[in-house]
Amino acid sequence: MTSEAESLCFHEEDPVSNRSSEPAFVEILDRVMTRRRSIQHLAGWAGLTTLSLNSNVTTAASFGQTGLTFQELARGFDESARVANGYEWQVIAAWGDPIFPDAVPLDVHNQNGESQSKQFGYNCDYIAFIALPSSDPNVERGLLCVNHEYTDTNLMFPGLKTREDLVALPKEIVEAEMAAMGHSVVEVVRHPNGDWKLDQHGKLNRRLTALQTPIRISGPAAGHSRLRTSADPTGRNVVGTLNNCGGGVTPWGTMLICEENFNATFSGSADGSSESQNHKRYGIDGPSRFSPAWAKHFPRFDIEQEPNEPNRFGWVVEFDPMNPKSQPVKRTALGRCKHEGAGIVTNHDGRVVIYCGDDERFEYVYRFVTRRGFDPDNPKSNRNLLDDGTLSVAKFDAEGTVNWLPLVFGTGPLTPENGFASQADVLIETRRAADLLGATPMDRPEDVEPSAVNGCVYVILSNNSKRTSDHTDAANPRPYNVHGHVLELIPPQTNSGFDHAADTFQWNVFLRGGDPTSQTDDATCHADVSNDGWVSCPDNAAFDSRGRLWMTTDGASETASTAEGIYVCETDGQNRARTRLFFQGPRGCELSGVCLTPDDRTLFVSVQHPGEEDGSDFANPSTRWPDFDPSLPPRPAVVAIRHKNQEGDQNQEKDQNQEEDQNQEGDQIQE
Ligand code: FEO
Ligand code: CA
Ligand code: CA
Ligand code: CA
Repeated sequence: MTSEAESLCFHEEDPVSNRSSEPAFVEILDRVMTRRRSIQHLAGWAGLTTLSLNSNVTTAASFGQTGLTFQELARGFDESARVANGYEWQVIAAWGDPIFPDAVPLDVHNQNGESQSKQFGYNCDYIAFIALPSSDPNVERGLLCVNHEYTDTNLMFPGLKTREDLVALPKEIVEAEMAAMGHSVVEVVRHPNGDWKLDQHGKLNRRLTALQTPIRISGPAAGHSRLRTSADPTGRNVVGTLNNCGGGVTPWGTMLICEENFNATFSGSADGSSESQNHKRYGIDGPSRFSPAWAKHFPRFDIEQEPNEPNRFGWVVEFDPMNPKSQPVKRTALGRCKHEGAGIVTNHDGRVVIYCGDDERFEYVYRFVTRRGFDPDNPKSNRNLLDDGTLSVAKFDAEGTVNWLPLVFGTGPLTPENGFASQADVLIETRRAADLLGATPMDRPEDVEPSAVNGCVYVILSNNSKRTSDHTDAANPRPYNVHGHVLELIPPQTNSGFDHAADTFQWNVFLRGGDPTSQTDDATCHADVSNDGWVSCPDNAAFDSRGRLWMTTDGASETASTAEGIYVCETDGQNRARTRLFFQGPRGCELSGVCLTPDDRTLFVSVQHPGEEDGSDFANPSTRWPDFDPSLPPRPAVVAIRHKNQEGDQNQEKDQNQEEDQNQEGDQIQE
């Protein structure tokens, strides 16, 4: 992670925006930690499953022993990527790759909005894989849907050394930046024993960008006066989507792509604006740290000229990847914040539940529950399911209960006395509404992922160096939390399945990142985690079909001699939270968007911002991964990882309870 003041690189350590003074839980924390330590003493951390707060999890322990037999990778820090023995990685799509037949190749000396709009975007993040029908049974086809979060302009283009250089960027480079953000949909093909390849002729190939994609605004805030601008007096139509970080695939097959650090795009003083308090709560006040030239060329990014424009960003965007002509929609019912991602599960009663972290230090964890249920037999009825439902925010107590507090206009403090005149106001100012409800400020919530196998929900908390010892609480128990931690939420069980819509869940700490041998780190993980396998700064997460948790990290540094990794562990049984290092990225990157094919044979991951380090720029990048071509800067890229043994198909249906060593022949990614 780069230092806040000096670097031209964009990173996520925004200054803290949440100044609310939720009381500390220190004294209660002591009690809880004493209780948990005595559990640890009796059973070891590996035994915690059977001591979980809900007996449902004990049932799920039978999913343990699933045979993660790969030889763990040794920690390292270098210019390339590495994967565990027996596996191989390949680049499928990198920044600037043409994704249409008429696209021009990347030219870093002549890039513009038009060329970039037909090429793969920069800083790939969330990945979804959707299998496509194939006329040849030996040929696999699929759709990769990939977010592009932001740009590292000083790495992408020559001659940008100072902030003044970024302020003076010409319009064509700003347009290239805007076109490099957003989303790419690309068809990919794999022939027998071959690599995945991008198909430039794919009929579904598409780019969504911040530059020119028209997007409709829907839900309770659509059309509200606070969303109207001089370019859009309706408050219902916005050009572009920004800072697309995590996402999800709905049960009806649409993509949700989440607008995260949108605040960093805007320039101008918030003082004197009717939106002053609102903008400051989202960290919008003063020159843009990220895109200081945008407001000059596009006045809508100047809040002094268009004070409502930021209210049109920070939403979850839905679009249909199977229809390249479909118009994306910003779903305001899901609230406005720095949405990291969208962890989706269909509840036992058919309602759809979406979990989301607001990724900033001391921000909150949210949950949206649709009012109506998902109807698989009537696709049209699901079209606007996300416009109607209840958004809630999490309040964790020290006794192991999490309460979901609804953000509903007219209830509790969400009234005109506190400046909310409607549900639209509550959603536009989601953070302030959550402050008033007394939500628990968390240590940078990134992915919040439900497991389809054990029914629990995993909250990935990346880190929070600003938490002080007098502001710890049970769910954020460490001051100066530089390594992050993972919470496990346990919804109550009903006769028909887990109730993700319940008002309260149980929770516990799944792991605390850091070196378990270091007293300073005060980490907790499985007793058998190796020196290569402990996790720092977990960020994105996905489950394979057997319920194993694959996590990527974002927080390495050369001083720690460790690059970012993909770590995997089981969530139940003897090897619960026994993380192991599977893949390591090139220096300066973070790994994100981890995603597996439905057969678990290919794992995709985004190598985001390779070479993003202090002192690294276009002329002297700290790595030129993946091309290592002296004429090219490093390029963020989506990587596919597979077992080298492509012939092991017969192993796909192995009994989960087999002895570990019997699994050695398989080619599934998790073995
Ligand atoms: Fe875009 Fe919070 O990572
Ligand atoms: Ca990131
Ligand atoms: Ca992230
Ligand atoms: Ca991160």
